[in-house]
Amino acid sequence: MNQRRAFLQKMGAIAGAFSANSLFNQLHAANFESAQAAVQHLSADAIAADEDYWSVIQQAYTVNANFVNLNNGGVSPSPRVVQEAVERYNQLTNQGPSYYMWRILDQGREPLRYKLAEMAGCNTEEIAINRNATEALNTVIFGLDLKAGDEVIGTKQDYPNMIQAWKQREMREGIVYKQLNFQFPIENDAEIVKAFENAITPKTKIIHITHIINWIGQILPARKIADMAKSHGIEVIVDGAHSFGLLDYQIPDLNCDYFGTSLHKFLSAPIGSGMLWIRKEKIGKIWPLLCNGDPKGTDIRKFETLGTRSFPIEQGIGEAVNFQMAIGGKRKEDRIRYLKNYWAKKVAEVPKVKIHTSFKPEYACAICGVSIDGMTPGELDGALFNTYKIHTVGIVWENISCVRITPHVYTRIQDLDKLVKAITELADKKK
Ligand SMILES: Cc1ncc(COP(=O)(O)O)c(C=O)c1O
Repeated sequence: MNQRRAFLQKMGAIAGAFSANSLFNQLHAANFESAQAAVQHLSADAIAADEDYWSVIQQAYTVNANFVNLNNGGVSPSPRVVQEAVERYNQLTNQGPSYYMWRILDQGREPLRYKLAEMAGCNTEEIAINRNATEALNTVIFGLDLKAGDEVIGTKQDYPNMIQAWKQREMREGIVYKQLNFQFPIENDAEIVKAFENAITPKTKIIHITHIINWIGQILPARKIADMAKSHGIEVIVDGAHSFGLLDYQIPDLNCDYFGTSLHKFLSAPIGSGMLWIRKEKIGKIWPLLCNGDPKGTDIRKFETLGTRSFPIEQGIGEAVNFQMAIGGKRKEDRIRYLKNYWAKKVAEVPKVKIHTSFKPEYACAICGVSIDGMTPGELDGALFNTYKIHTVGIVWENISCVRITPHVYTRIQDLDKLVKAITELADKKK
């Protein structure tokens, strides 16, 4: 009992995950408690490889056992606790939508904002809750006052929805959008920072950084790029779609001005949830993408005039944060990087196989690209699914051509062994 109390006290600081009314507490507290107790004497590396501990986390998910999903980079499943929260809020909503949505569930947005701010390590008044990273980042891209001739630096390896938004501003208003073209993997921060710095001119106003390149998993040194940008008086936008809930950092660590993320990727929040962060003193100057009665106001809530949307999805985010906090950000990052390196190191030795992503921890986590000489990404992706029932995604984008493999906390070692066997057999056929 004492042990239980000590555990709950330790975890009590964690954003309500174990509060009496939390679904997480009802469903998982006891299992998580004994799993945590069993590994607490181990080093971080040993915990990352402790299958007994991770099997408790795996059981919290409801994924289909008939195929192996290794495309968590696209979107991630939610654990049962999050799904149940959404279902519960949905049933409540349908008892009387306008009453339950606008008078009851609406009350949950401020505690949720607080909880996300706690996880992100920032001021509550800097967080807006929305539907995805595209909405968050397009809000900033279209909301900035820029005039013809002002320059923005991004890369050809950024996400298409952001590239297209910048190009639309270029077409419509005559801003200048410059795209660097990196040949990843790169294991040298200075080289990346220098490439951005070399593109700066007196007209540069914005640097757009994708924290983790979705195509291939390269982690960019966002903080170092931002520090360099600041020394030139340039503002920084970070696309954290893949890093939030995966890498153990807090938004202010990045020294950026604007940050957008999906919550339905590594955080495992309900599908259709996202978050925008804007440095407090910059809120006033960003126009809302939709509308608001006070568009130049300094209240972050001006970005939440989204019209009618899914309150159950929004409120389900809270249980995803509980789940995340109960594992711990660093532990989750270590585990997922361990899983990525587990399979990738094995197949890297196989003739005809090429790994397209760094093995160094500072340059990659979770996402990793692989190819087999003599097979297109489409052929490899197709063979993995048709023959082995392993779901991945073929990537052909700019100078990148590979299959993207992305495990998550629920991925089992046996599933990765199956992947290794599949890639080895397919590569053997190309000898
Ligand atoms: C780097 C990056 N940014 C933004 C997005 C867009 O995310 P969403 O579909 O949630 O808007 C994605 C989606 O995969 C992404 O990979």
